[in-house]
Amino acid sequence: MKYGFFDDAALEYVITTPKTPLPWINYLGNKEFFSLISNTCGGYTFYKDAKLLRLTRYRYNNVPYDNNGKYFYIKDNTDSACSVVWNPGWQPVKTTLDQYECRHGLGYSTFTSSKNNVEAKVLTFVPMNDNCEISKVTITNNKETAAKLSLFSYVEWCLWNADDDMKNFQRNLSTGEVEVTDNGSTIYHKTEYRERRNHYAIYSVNTAVDGFDTSRDAFLGAYNGPDSPDVVAEGKCTNSVASGWSPIASQQINLELAAGESKTFIFVLGYIENPEDDKWEAPGVVNKKPALKMLEAYKTEAAVDAALVELKNYWKELLSNYHISSSNEKVDRMVNIWNQYQCMVTFNMSRSASYYESGIGRGMGFRDSCQDLLGFVHLIPDRARQRIIDIASTQFQDGSAYHQYQPLTKKGNSDIGSGFNDDPLWLIAGTSAYVRETGDLSILKEMVPFDNDMSVAKTLMGHLKCSFDFTATHKGPHGLPLIGRADWNDCLNLNCFSEHPGESFQTFGPSEGPVAESVFIAGMFVKYGEEYAQLAELLGDDAEAKRAREEIAKVYEAAITAGWDGEWFVRAYDAYSNKVGSKECEEGQIYIEPQGFCVLAGIGVKEGLAEKALKSVEERLDTKYGVMILQPAYTKYHLELGEVSSYPPGYKENAGIFCHNNPWVSIAETVLGHGDRAFEIYRKTCPAYIEDISEIHCTEPYVYSQMVAGRDAKFFGQGKNSWLTGTAAWTFVNISQYILGVYPTHNGLSINPCVPADFGDFEITRKYRDAVYHISVKQNGAQKGIKKLTVNGTEVSGNVIPYESGVKEYTVVAEMG
Ligand code: GLC
Ligand code: GLC
Repeated sequence: MKYGFFDDAALEYVITTPKTPLPWINYLGNKEFFSLISNTCGGYTFYKDAKLLRLTRYRYNNVPYDNNGKYFYIKDNTDSACSVVWNPGWQPVKTTLDQYECRHGLGYSTFTSSKNNVEAKVLTFVPMNDNCEISKVTITNNKETAAKLSLFSYVEWCLWNADDDMKNFQRNLSTGEVEVTDNGSTIYHKTEYRERRNHYAIYSVNTAVDGFDTSRDAFLGAYNGPDSPDVVAEGKCTNSVASGWSPIASQQINLELAAGESKTFIFVLGYIENPEDDKWEAPGVVNKKPALKMLEAYKTEAAVDAALVELKNYWKELLSNYHISSSNEKVDRMVNIWNQYQCMVTFNMSRSASYYESGIGRGMGFRDSCQDLLGFVHLIPDRARQRIIDIASTQFQDGSAYHQYQPLTKKGNSDIGSGFNDDPLWLIAGTSAYVRETGDLSILKEMVPFDNDMSVAKTLMGHLKCSFDFTATHKGPHGLPLIGRADWNDCLNLNCFSEHPGESFQTFGPSEGPVAESVFIAGMFVKYGEEYAQLAELLGDDAEAKRAREEIAKVYEAAITAGWDGEWFVRAYDAYSNKVGSKECEEGQIYIEPQGFCVLAGIGVKEGLAEKALKSVEERLDTKYGVMILQPAYTKYHLELGEVSSYPPGYKENAGIFCHNNPWVSIAETVLGHGDRAFEIYRKTCPAYIEDISEIHCTEPYVYSQMVAGRDAKFFGQGKNSWLTGTAAWTFVNISQYILGVYPTHNGLSINPCVPADFGDFEITRKYRDAVYHISVKQNGAQKGIKKLTVNGTEVSGNVIPYESGVKEYTVVAEMG
């Protein structure tokens, strides 16, 4: 069952009912000011950091789902005997609408609804170059007679620190402050501005209003929720000025519309910072100059429309960096629009703010952000460059790293600390991807601090060496890398041994143990160690490359011996040196991670182990909804394994379909040339391909979710944790670089597709460094292999299009077979 449809020409997903199985959301903002917005107008707004600079409040863990947003209420008083109140996004009042449509586009959402022949159209977006969210609201009277209406706006302020905001009531109920100007057209939220803050928020409408409210209790009534505000019921606002308690911003606009008449209003929710020495225009009165400047910029419809065009053009231009045209509509739609879009969102948010990540927990993840880069770097390499430097700045001198950092301060988060032994190697992955994309070797020579301390800076290449050496020097009894607190799988906690509820699996127990080892990190070391060696060569350090390859050879050997179980790769060795993910185990005999990652790293290919490992995955882990992370599921808690065995069977890391590592297996299949199978894996978790089972999958059909419940789960096939997942980047890498086969090497683009036999010919436009490549692939029914490559009319040998500086346009014909 579907709840909408893709409108590819408009680059939109169109939701045709507000009653989706879960809130289906969108992200507004590309730079520093962001909003989340659901298909029923729920969501919240923040500047840079969802925890530390939250503008509006959201109620997590509440009923109904999706409680609080930026709402508009329409009260239709035309029939004075029975007035009706409704919202363009249906929530919170939930009056049955005569028409409803939500379109989520790239950085904007629109809502078009009607009730009793009054139509409301709300367009919401964050413009490219300002810290604000604009809502353009158009009300049209489609009745045959005049309509008498009132429009009420509503946003509830968050007192900046979203974590403190929901806990520290003894203080927070006394700090709220606002200013109101123009009889309520503009409301300033200035809590804590009197002391250490130099920022405030505004909510304003470009018209004279009939009144306002800034006290939540006055607007809603102390015992009401946003579904039944007193003020709306009465049809009369109270001009309340908040003092402490819960400040809000609400305006009332009364309208008389003739038959067929429309009126448009522009609402702006903005964030303003003032210089420390220019905070006030009079004692106690905030300096409003920058706010007025912002409002001036968006006071006309023409200005707002122009800002939307600018946003749309920005996205069109970005997406043109990789564009496919094939006979597979769903592939085209994911590659050209939604997968790249999700890559931008994960790059911006890491794992901080979604409907499943509350924005008050994790900031930016070290490993997460490094992986997010892989799917983003072709979009805006300069931003990726800065991100790499930021991430590397939270590394420690021994190569280990803070597992997370806060985006606002860019400082490592000491609550969680370090000890996740895969982290260092992801820095090599991200950096290598950036250098292959851009050819910019200067980044390797940048001086980058350790733990933000410039007095102990090294070049970025020096950091990568620390990463490499960390793994090389932290090995266990089998010569495999030590796992530390966990590797990619945050829940494989082999040194934790936690017995008491409430202890964090992430931080309990020693951060390091001398025995527990990870075969997955071995796979990473072989893959990214080689990428490190190549970077060393590019810098002319052949001796270092040689040394690196010697270290890699040792780990390779350990992986195919101690790391091999007979039919598949072992997952790990626990703190007693017992195998994890082996036929010897009672539960959890096979895990996906080492099969995917070791094979994509090339381990066991020539020895014939890779084929076996992937066969085992197909036999033991595959389902109709994707490949499960492990089997058999853990049915009881294993003290020696940790959180992985804490989840009920089929969920999350305990035998869920963890979408993030499905592309690893798909890539591994392309390494072996299995186009049919690689694509089958791609298809099973691909949102566009499962749109018509939305009632089972539940999450948005235009983006990936972190997890789909596995076969052991009651709700097999159900998605959770949509949007913020490494799946976005890895799937884009898989489809664009391995399946469609356009892979950036240090020497130029390589063309080596691995597609299903019936895929058909396809064309790709790829912007790479300073040129545009028009690539035409003739498949000839082959799954892999290029028999002829022609570049600008000349046949070249091999798969790599030689990069010639100065050439701006390449016409490439690749004949498979
Ligand atoms: C979550 C984390 C990610 C981790 C994965 C597996 O998605 O964000 O860092 O690798 O879970 O545990
Ligand atoms: C839990 C989750 C895992 C996530 C981690 C982040 O362990 O199961 O997916 O990566 O929390 O802290």
